[in-house]
Amino acid sequence: MIQKIAKINGVNGELILPGDKSISHRAVMFSAMAEGKSTVNNYLNSEDVNSTIGCFRNLACKIEQTDTDLVIWGKGVNGFTKPISPLDAGNSGTTTRLISGILSAQNFETTIIGDASLSKRPMKRVVEPLAKMGAKIETSEIGSLPMIISPSSGLKAIEFDMQVASAQVKSAVLLAGLYLEDETVVIEHSRTRNHTETLLGLKVEEFDGMRKIYSSKKNYPKPADYIVPSDISTAAFFMVLALNSQNSELLLKNVLLNETRVGIVKILQKMNGKIEIENERESSGEKLGDLRIFSSKLKNVEIDSEIIPNIIDEIPILSVAGLFAEGKFTVKNAEELRFKESDRIAALCSNYRKLGVFCDEFEDGFSLSGEVTKENILIESFNDHRISMAFAILAMLVGKEISINNFESVAVSNPQFLAQIDSVKICSTD
Ligand code: S3P
Repeated sequence: MIQKIAKINGVNGELILPGDKSISHRAVMFSAMAEGKSTVNNYLNSEDVNSTIGCFRNLACKIEQTDTDLVIWGKGVNGFTKPISPLDAGNSGTTTRLISGILSAQNFETTIIGDASLSKRPMKRVVEPLAKMGAKIETSEIGSLPMIISPSSGLKAIEFDMQVASAQVKSAVLLAGLYLEDETVVIEHSRTRNHTETLLGLKVEEFDGMRKIYSSKKNYPKPADYIVPSDISTAAFFMVLALNSQNSELLLKNVLLNETRVGIVKILQKMNGKIEIENERESSGEKLGDLRIFSSKLKNVEIDSEIIPNIIDEIPILSVAGLFAEGKFTVKNAEELRFKESDRIAALCSNYRKLGVFCDEFEDGFSLSGEVTKENILIESFNDHRISMAFAILAMLVGKEISINNFESVAVSNPQFLAQIDSVKICSTD
């Protein structure tokens, strides 16, 4: 679907955005693993999370679903049964990589498949440590889906020194570790999102800027009532829109403020963005609060390499903020962007160039200078939800007859994106 995006004159009011995607996936998985009834309130009803729900239904787990709530009857340690068809993870890397840790410990064979984008993404990063634990996993020749996971002759706990900064890889190993008496240890060099360890209450030791995270059978999930805060990665699009449009004041309520995710707020504040945090509190072990955002004159700042894993999903929309800010936007040390739903470095650069913006592409990032000079442009989303939404926000700020190809990809993380914008926009000039 080609979506034309009109310029808007600002945003005003308040929004409660849907639940965080990473936490929603985990709440579904941990509920399905636990023995008995769990509930998930304010889960994200999007294609990605529905892929996780579909996989667990296929493993014989009963899940009742409304638009905002789930009731899940978990199957316990040995309760999943062989699915009648391959598990379809759709577009979701989180579903695939996390579930591969769980499936490695089952006594039946499963096949995981996904869409064209997911089928190109690297799976060796999970297969290698899981194989060290004794898992039997086959992938395609290039190390991607389909993935066939067969019963192992016995999993064993390992100490895994993780070289890639990936919460999905960390989680896959820790989830396999939940089926073992001995402690599995993941050593993390860069700080990645910590929802798996927070929700499961895993032991974490910090040393020399690194972390050791432990999991074993004693951490196996029990039934719980999860309340999911609003997704900070979704909120980021609205932050950039409000900061860059005139006469705007927007309140985003109940936003996840976990320290491994809040980097986008810190960077936008450092860029002179007026973002006030109100009503900070904790729920289900996660920090949340309300963000009040005002129109601001932004300036570009240096983006330190340590913060990259914290803002990895927000870089597409951060680059839009950078384009409108004083000075040159540059991001480096972000090669992981090439392995997301699209090669986001290539996707961003090719679209910025189409708009007449000068873009210098590096292996691990890019820089932007100049401004949008071209009109009537068709942006290519590369079927990537965050590319679609980032350029939609850019188009709302500049106008210039911009349309976005395959805009339906937004449904991966936020099917109601345009309706939410409509509910807070001041008025359209079109
Ligand atoms: C996620 C981890 C990150 C992130 C993804 C969600 C998770 O991926 O980009 O959107 O929920 O664990 P990596 O683990 O590949 O960095």
